[in-house]
Amino acid sequence: MQLSIDERYMFRCLELARLGLGHTAPNPMVGAVLVHEDRIIGEGYHQRCGGPHAEVNCLDNVRPEDRHLIPASTLYVSLEPCAHHGRTPPCAARIIREGIREVVVAIRDPFPLVDGKGIELMEAAGIRVRLGLMGKEAEWLNQRFLTFHTKGRPYIILKWARSADGMIAGPGPSRTSISGQATRALVHQWRYQEAAIMVGAGTVEVDDPRLTVRPSPSPRQPVRIILDPRLRLYAGHRVFDPEGSVVICNVLKEGTEGHLRYLRLPPTEDLLPGMLQRLHDLGIQSVFVEGGQKLLEAFLKADAWDEIRRITARDKRIPGGYPEPAWAGMQPLRRDIIEQDMIETFIHG
Ligand SMILES: NC(=O)c1ccc[n+]([C@@H]2O[C@H](COP(=O)([O-])OP(=O)(O)OC[C@H]3O[C@@H](n4cnc5c(N)ncnc54)[C@H](OP(=O)(O)O)[C@@H]3O)[C@@H](O)[C@H]2O)c1
Repeated sequence: MQLSIDERYMFRCLELARLGLGHTAPNPMVGAVLVHEDRIIGEGYHQRCGGPHAEVNCLDNVRPEDRHLIPASTLYVSLEPCAHHGRTPPCAARIIREGIREVVVAIRDPFPLVDGKGIELMEAAGIRVRLGLMGKEAEWLNQRFLTFHTKGRPYIILKWARSADGMIAGPGPSRTSISGQATRALVHQWRYQEAAIMVGAGTVEVDDPRLTVRPSPSPRQPVRIILDPRLRLYAGHRVFDPEGSVVICNVLKEGTEGHLRYLRLPPTEDLLPGMLQRLHDLGIQSVFVEGGQKLLEAFLKADAWDEIRRITARDKRIPGGYPEPAWAGMQPLRRDIIEQDMIETFIHG
């Protein structure tokens, strides 16, 4: 694919932004480059939540001998610059102060305190703002952040591993290993990229997972979420170890006990809407749902998902096993092969 000059710089912004994956939530991933006469004189990205924004890092990275070029340069940024005082001062004000005359923005920021105000502020100061360059790519990159703010729920990734004959577990009540070692290592990377990991009570009972990122210690552990409506799980399960916080969604109890947070959901027939609302209220931007069958099927049935990652162990059969969640299926966006496993990625339309 041949990129225009503008697209090349925005592509670089997206590349930089992606370096923040797993570190910026609940903030978005953002990259910025400053270009003077077809030469990048500064670049930066939002490295971690609470740290300086991409535009500030980009401007601060301009070398002293190039600083006089800033007003005659074009700033490319993958998300609308902010207009409010959060943990850091507003980026739009800094851009105006630096005397920049042209800003190219991939997408508008739907966060209520920004939502067009950054662009308005810059335009009111006489800056030429071009919006929409590589917008689709920028939306894809920040799908978690955008889903959280536009749909009012976390971004939901469903993941399961199945045998070649479509089983997710053996017939008995004990853990069955399905995917290979390399895929399991990849799953730990996937966990690291999300704000939270979730399973149902049945999976805790049978598999006794830790639901942590390994090798540990990891710089960050996602929140572990268990759906255990009637609090039937025994406290000795490994998922309750104090390696990070645990949220227990149920219909009986509310409150905090050490690292355990109980969320009492409205006792409706379908617990999902109430649960997603509570997780959104807690600021959880993405949830990696790792099973089991009942929980996955509930998300599928409610059509409350954004992405599915289905692993098929092509060399494994589990006669009489526990079947994968029922789902109408669709064409995968991509198929990857890792040793004996096939990984299919499906994106909600
Ligand atoms: N291959 C894989 O990728 C994979 C991944 C995970 C698990 N597994 C296997 O799956 C099996 C467990 O499956 P499962 O279906 O029993 O597990 P599950 O979905 O983890 O847990 C089921 C239990 O969680 C609660 N629950 C789940 N969804 C609910 C909903 N929408 N509304 C209300 N309550 C809900 C219910 O608890 P109450 O009954 O207390 O109400 C339900 O009985 C195990 O054999 C495990 O090894 C396989």
